[in-house]
Amino acid sequence: MSGSDPSLTSLFTSEHRRLDGLLGRFLAAAGAADTGSAREAMRAFDDALRRHTALEEERLFLRKPEEKLLPPAQEGERERLFRELALEHVQIRELSGILLRLLEKEDLSSARALIGNLLSRWDAHTAREERDAYPISDSPEGPPCSSA
Ligand SMILES: [Fe+2]
Ligand SMILES: [Fe+2]
Repeated sequence: MSGSDPSLTSLFTSEHRRLDGLLGRFLAAAGAADTGSAREAMRAFDDALRRHTALEEERLFLRKPEEKLLPPAQEGERERLFRELALEHVQIRELSGILLRLLEKEDLSSARALIGNLLSRWDAHTAREERDAYPISDSPEGPPCSSA
């Protein structure tokens, strides 16, 4: 992780592990057919996910909320990586929102059918961030991260 802002990237990495734990809580509750606990775990995950991804976009990707997710005519490697990660945020938040709405309707079996999709997207996304994005987050062309 040389070249990275340790306070910001370690915060983000520890948030990944906390979110992993919330998904584990969901899986345990779903395995026990405890819809109420599964819903609470998914609500906590969804809330934390929205805060985490908004902070990453603001502090790490330096993206504005209105910025387009379509590739521009010309784009550098760094811009492409951050745009693709922001697009993954949209997809993961959408899935999380769908799961939460299913659980609010007490539909645990549909939520169970979708959770594998969320788990694989979340795992791939966090692995990519920790491997590719965090190490370059404060290199010379990167965002200013010194006030974290
Ligand atoms: Fe992310
Ligand atoms: Fe992240």
